[in-house]
Amino acid sequence: MLENSKVLIVGGAGFVGSNLVHRLLNICDPEKIWIVDNLLSADISNVPIDPKVEFIFGSITSEKILKKLPKDLEYVFHLSCFHGNQSSIADPYLDHENNTLTSLKLFETLKDFKHLKKVVYAAAGCAVAEKTFGEAAATSEDAPVSLFHDSPYSISKLIGEMYGNYYFQRYDLPFVKARFQNIYGPREILGAGDWRGTAHTVWRNVTPTFIWKALHHEALPLDNGGNASRDFIFVEDLVRGLIACADNGNPGEAYNLASGVETTILDLAKMINKLTHNPTPIDLKPARDWDRSGKRFGSTEKSKEKIGFEAEVDLYEGLKLTIDWTIKNKDLIACNMRKFQIFVPEVGKY
Ligand SMILES: NC(=O)c1ccc[n+]([C@@H]2O[C@H](COP(=O)([O-])OP(=O)(O)OC[C@H]3O[C@@H](n4cnc5c(N)ncnc54)[C@H](O)[C@@H]3O)[C@@H](O)[C@H]2O)c1
Repeated sequence: MLENSKVLIVGGAGFVGSNLVHRLLNICDPEKIWIVDNLLSADISNVPIDPKVEFIFGSITSEKILKKLPKDLEYVFHLSCFHGNQSSIADPYLDHENNTLTSLKLFETLKDFKHLKKVVYAAAGCAVAEKTFGEAAATSEDAPVSLFHDSPYSISKLIGEMYGNYYFQRYDLPFVKARFQNIYGPREILGAGDWRGTAHTVWRNVTPTFIWKALHHEALPLDNGGNASRDFIFVEDLVRGLIACADNGNPGEAYNLASGVETTILDLAKMINKLTHNPTPIDLKPARDWDRSGKRFGSTEKSKEKIGFEAEVDLYEGLKLTIDWTIKNKDLIACNMRKFQIFVPEVGKY
């Protein structure tokens, strides 16, 4: 349905956003894609040079940029954020500016656009998951949500959902929430973007960090013995899910984009060490003081039934593809990481 459509992707230079841009260009044949991105946590090399793509550099909070958006947009994917939990703890104001104000200003602008078919929002499964170190149950879309959160990032992701719900109810904004689990895959560039206050500017998420360290024969650090669990979803599956939300999602509804498979961090580390032939033993560490969300995974039932989405790539296959991509792009990644050697000295050696 996105064929010949006018599409805006906010945060389109990022990990998920750039994979979405590539899939739309390759499969969906849109008329035009506008990307708005301030490159806060992205590298420009993720943006394809294509006559159908227009890149607008800057924040989606900028009045000038908001005024410039074409009024006949049909699909909007709002993927921008202040990446991620740790950086938001270090700088809650920057999180607010890039993760909360962004959603409010974007939706306030879009409420007057008359051609919109869908506004798909990148919601976070971690913000709605039950916090447990016991046995996890699959989190469904209608599970109760706590008002107590571990990070400003997590709060921002929920506020984005709430603002969207408000604009849906009050102004009929065709707002659909895509709730992501832990995504991994090509185009997640360690160190991409600006310094965001913590070493996690460089070491973004667990999968690319483990892959990079394993390829350099370093010990994989496991917080809390690696007994936490997550639901890992390959990015190509996830962007198919985003398109399914745009095509088939009902405004006002939330859909999990999950694999439905629970994997412990210990098992993830073992799998990556095996695939990369890393001989160095795993480094067991104590729990992170801010993190109380031990085990979780997402329910896949509603997405399967209502929007016809199911993840297809299993973790082993997805990791192999991600490792291949990392090896092919090691110079680009090292270059992005090296920018921060002044803040994170150990990054300098790559
Ligand atoms: N990666 C995951 O595992 C995961 C899990 C749950 C939810 N999400 C959500 O998915 C979305 C995409 O995540 P990602 O992993 O691709 O992160 P990312 O950091 O690669 O992408 C976010 C993009 O937003 C851009 N951005 C930041 N502030 C902006 C602003 N003010 N205006 C315009 N652009 C701005 C960044 O430069 C970046 O390109 C985010 O909203 C994130 O919260 C991701």
